[in-house]
Amino acid sequence: MKVLEELREQFLEAIGTCKTVDDVEAVKLRFLGRKGLLAEFRKNIDFKSLTPDERGAVGKNFNDLKNLFESKIDDVHKSFADSDKSAKLPEIDMTLPGSGHTIGGLHPVTLVQMELEQIFMGMGFYIESGFEVENEHYNFDALNTPSDHPAREMQDTYWLENGMLLRTQTSANQVRALEKFGVPLKAIFPGRCFRYETIDASHENTFYQLEGLVVDRNITIANLISVMKLLLNQVFHREVKTRLRPGYFPFVEPGFELDINCLICGGKGCRTCKNSGWLELLPCGIVHPNVLRFGNVDPGKWSGFAFGLGLTRLAMMKYGIPDIRLFNSGDIRVLDQFRATI
Ligand code: DAH
Repeated sequence: MKVLEELREQFLEAIGTCKTVDDVEAVKLRFLGRKGLLAEFRKNIDFKSLTPDERGAVGKNFNDLKNLFESKIDDVHKSFADSDKSAKLPEIDMTLPGSGHTIGGLHPVTLVQMELEQIFMGMGFYIESGFEVENEHYNFDALNTPSDHPAREMQDTYWLENGMLLRTQTSANQVRALEKFGVPLKAIFPGRCFRYETIDASHENTFYQLEGLVVDRNITIANLISVMKLLLNQVFHREVKTRLRPGYFPFVEPGFELDINCLICGGKGCRTCKNSGWLELLPCGIVHPNVLRFGNVDPGKWSGFAFGLGLTRLAMMKYGIPDIRLFNSGDIRVLDQFRATI
């Protein structure tokens, strides 16, 4: 039909000259709008004057034309969107080097944490991070440290107005994990801890620990020692000598301090080990029956060991970093030195 043929030509010409999305929208309105040219054609045509065959043919032509308009408009919109994307591509190309800024590296604590996670995964341990904002129950009470316990004094923390606290130790995960996973259990919990402390070269209010917990049948100190030795040999890439001293922590019984032979002087005595030949590294012990009970585990049937490794401390020793304050200083020159380590 001639009118439709004319409309088709007009439309193709109009859409061919569109330069912007707004142009396309204007063409759409002009041809497909409620008061557009197609609608007008439809309103004006006198269907009654047509034979049934003619009616069918006009209807088909009309629909074909409408479909053509719609698909052309879609195509042009798409091509605008694509060229828009390709125009922006260089701005978000992650493979391009930064412009004039120094690229940092992974934080030394992250490096040590990743290495330890690898070692523990090899031994079949779960990894959980737990919550930095904890409640008093998991951080203290469930760890056999009720509110009147003197050991609480050593772990002053930041309390929130809602009664929650910033966790002082990753040990807070112990009872959470027992409740969540049940027994037998082998898990480590690396993460950030907080204490209300005066900051100096070896004390920070924000630092990292890695807690470990193993609960199974017939777990003894022998299991604890062998896992700790395996761990330390892998971390330091050599055979390290260890010794156990008694240590007190309310949530283990017996509790120990595991020392390693000083890596700097080989045990002869130096400034780093305060001439003792030993470095205090790993507090640990056999899980206290009360902790198991808090986790709904029967201490008559199950036993376990736990340890709390100071990740920040370990990073200091491993990389020879003398001042703990460097870790949270945000100084790019610190990270810069670890760039090659990734
Ligand atoms: N949570 C203790 C602390 O921050 C460290 C610790 C000691 C963890 C003995 C343990 C453990 O799992 O058995 O001082």
